[in-house]
Amino acid sequence: MSKLLNCLINKDNSCVPIWFMRQAGRYLPEFRQIRLQNPNFLDLCFNSNLATEITLQPLKRFNLDAAIIFSDILVIPHALGQQIEFRGKGGPWCSNFNLDKFLSTKEKDFLSKLKPIYEAIKKTRTTLSKEKSLIAFVGAPWTLIIYLYNLKSLNNMKKQIKIKSKDEIKLVLKKLDEFLKIHILYQKEAGADVVQIFDSWSGLIRKEDLDEYCFKPNTSLVNFCKTNKIPSICFPKGLKNNYKEFMEKVKPDAINIDQDIDPVWAKNNLTNICIQGGMNPELLLKNEERALKETEKYLETFKNFPYIFNLGHGILPNTNPDIVKKIVDKVNLITR
Ligand code: CP3
Repeated sequence: MSKLLNCLINKDNSCVPIWFMRQAGRYLPEFRQIRLQNPNFLDLCFNSNLATEITLQPLKRFNLDAAIIFSDILVIPHALGQQIEFRGKGGPWCSNFNLDKFLSTKEKDFLSKLKPIYEAIKKTRTTLSKEKSLIAFVGAPWTLIIYLYNLKSLNNMKKQIKIKSKDEIKLVLKKLDEFLKIHILYQKEAGADVVQIFDSWSGLIRKEDLDEYCFKPNTSLVNFCKTNKIPSICFPKGLKNNYKEFMEKVKPDAINIDQDIDPVWAKNNLTNICIQGGMNPELLLKNEERALKETEKYLETFKNFPYIFNLGHGILPNTNPDIVKKIVDKVNLITR
């Protein structure tokens, strides 16, 4: 069994598996080279040979315990008939959300668009050694809604959002729940061993709406993973103290904490679960010594606790790969 699965399933704390969100991406010169020749980001996600190559790039450099398939959470709105543009600095954009098209998309058409992702998972799994896990992922419904309705730009990423068209959102949530489960199942059948559910914008949900837009949709996906015997890791970013309620209600195998969560608070409050991540990705941009000290802090805090090393969010594009290597080597020295 891989180190990551042993931690997730058996809550084994004798070693610390390590991987990074956005471990394949713009901070790697070998990714930038491929990206330069492939100006359309979604086309690149749907090129199974290149997606496999990009997925494996960080594992060639670093002794990581898992690969995460190179794709994006926004392939789902795309496969549900929406026009998604990756505009560089402004972030991804959905032009003119078409509700009818979204709700009427059939499973067959959805799957024919996503087929290259399942092929990339199959190819990656055959190359990847058994000791390494292959992580598949989806965006949680709320986070996908943020992009579908372009809510992020309006709210300047901080202000909480009041949903006005509740009846419409109900229909959208239901469709997403159904089709995200299909995507999870096909990724599992193609060879993925773990699913991470990204709710990157759950911090924008009002307290009174958390049940409806965060806890319930995540629980539905986590329960589906349990039924299909695939471990799940949730990342409800920005939830602050509500992380505890999330953990108690949703009950995934692991929870990724963000950099605003005090790791000592997490250890004392998020029990019967693996904890993943936490370290601020901005620390990797600065002083190397400080980043390694912070790495030690997380390792020390979570000793005797099932812990997966990762960050509080994805690796930033201007990170030096050398510092990533030093962190990986440091974590790999730990055997308890
Ligand atoms: O290495 C990995 O983590 C696997 C690949 C991966 C990507 N996106 C590739 C990507 C994963 C897991 C994601 C998830 C994702 N995508 C999330 C959830 C995690 C998070 O960061 O909060 C979200 C919100 C998205 C949506 C998205 N896709 C944004 C906001 C952006 C633009 C901003 C950015 O970070 O570049 C993308 C584009 C994207 N997805 C890139 C990559 C490598 C950059 C594309 C480029 O080269 O321009």
